[in-house]
Amino acid sequence: MSVLKGKKILLGVTAGIAAYKTAHLVRLCIKAGADVQVVMTPASKDFITPLTLSTLSKNPVHSVFYEKNEENELWNNHVDLGLWADLMLIAPATANTMSKMTNGTVDNLLLAVYLSAKCPVYFAPAMDLDMYKHPSTTQSIEKLTSYGNQLIPAASGELASGLVGEGRMAEPEEIIRFIEADMEGKLPLKGKKVLITAGPTYEAIDPVRFIGNHSSGKMGFELARKAANLGAEVLLISGPSSQQISHSLVKRIDVVSAEQMYNEVHARYQEIDIAIAAAAVADYTPLRTSDTKIKKQEGNLPIELKATKDILAAMGTHKEQQFLVGFALETNNEIEHAKGKLARKNLDMIVLNSLRDKGAGFAGDTNKITIIDKGNTISEYPLQSKEAVASNIFSEILKRYHA
Ligand code: CTP
Repeated sequence: MSVLKGKKILLGVTAGIAAYKTAHLVRLCIKAGADVQVVMTPASKDFITPLTLSTLSKNPVHSVFYEKNEENELWNNHVDLGLWADLMLIAPATANTMSKMTNGTVDNLLLAVYLSAKCPVYFAPAMDLDMYKHPSTTQSIEKLTSYGNQLIPAASGELASGLVGEGRMAEPEEIIRFIEADMEGKLPLKGKKVLITAGPTYEAIDPVRFIGNHSSGKMGFELARKAANLGAEVLLISGPSSQQISHSLVKRIDVVSAEQMYNEVHARYQEIDIAIAAAAVADYTPLRTSDTKIKKQEGNLPIELKATKDILAAMGTHKEQQFLVGFALETNNEIEHAKGKLARKNLDMIVLNSLRDKGAGFAGDTNKITIIDKGNTISEYPLQSKEAVASNIFSEILKRYHA
């Protein structure tokens, strides 16, 4: 799967003949799973029509500061466009536009968007060979790179003038490959193995009945998705859950009981870099499981329970290189109890949910967490979606995890 999947790409098109290749470029971005919006300089419309690019990107094309219709004047908010994007790609980038970018000149919408964009900016120059070699162009490229923009170098080849030399815009396939490789290289968990336990466990009483809990698995699945988006190879060991996940970096292993989860985790734990125990593991399991369905009978039916093995505590005991994160669901003296668990299970960090907080816990779509690390630093977060909570948990891990 491409790292561009789900990314918001703002494509800036300037007035060079290579602009005709942007139709293909938009197609490739969409094929990689990205969302695309296009900003054009007014002169670039002589080389490719906005209709082509809006049809392919499935979004309106922006090129002026405001648009007039019969009743209204609509402002194209360049700040919003800049904030919307995960990355901006200026292709082709002409000598004229690059020169303006170096000086902060803003005489069209594309330049205003560029100047207000906070995301990474890639630029793919395209011009004739003598223009490309001119010291002012070299200076523009150097300056733009020094501002933190990423150059996608021009290629050598036949140019529109008929001359042959350097200055041809990199082919759309190369541009996509370049950005993918650049982004992959910057993924903070690339090459790391992350293990996540998720969901409830079911402890069988007989072939049709079990002891379980209301955990949906959602928190663990969101953590797995986030870890994979940060570049990690993820092992998601989940109890029974209706959650789905499809990501090339996530391997899902389904288990039912606490014992099965323990065995799957500990068969792989040695090679893991970061482990997060988000599962709501049953603390007790029936001492005996009946092979046949237990029949109704007079009086009470006592079921004797024995403790399950604590999967997380065992990970703490065998901890070497692993950064270990646990969860604690508490109802009273929350911080104190969570700190106790952190120490007892030899964790690096614990994520605390309080059942006193509305919207927190393991059944819903939201969560409210407090993070405590082994140095006793406490960070409290507001009620958020489990997706946002997963992002917060990983930013706290990344602040502390050093390979
Ligand atoms: N956990 C586990 N294996 C178990 C029980 C719990 O891996 N058999 C993990 C959970 O995934 C969670 C953490 O341990 O990350 C906290 O679980 P919890 O049941 O709250 O902790 P306990 O130590 O059992 O404390 P108590 O039941 O007294 O609250």
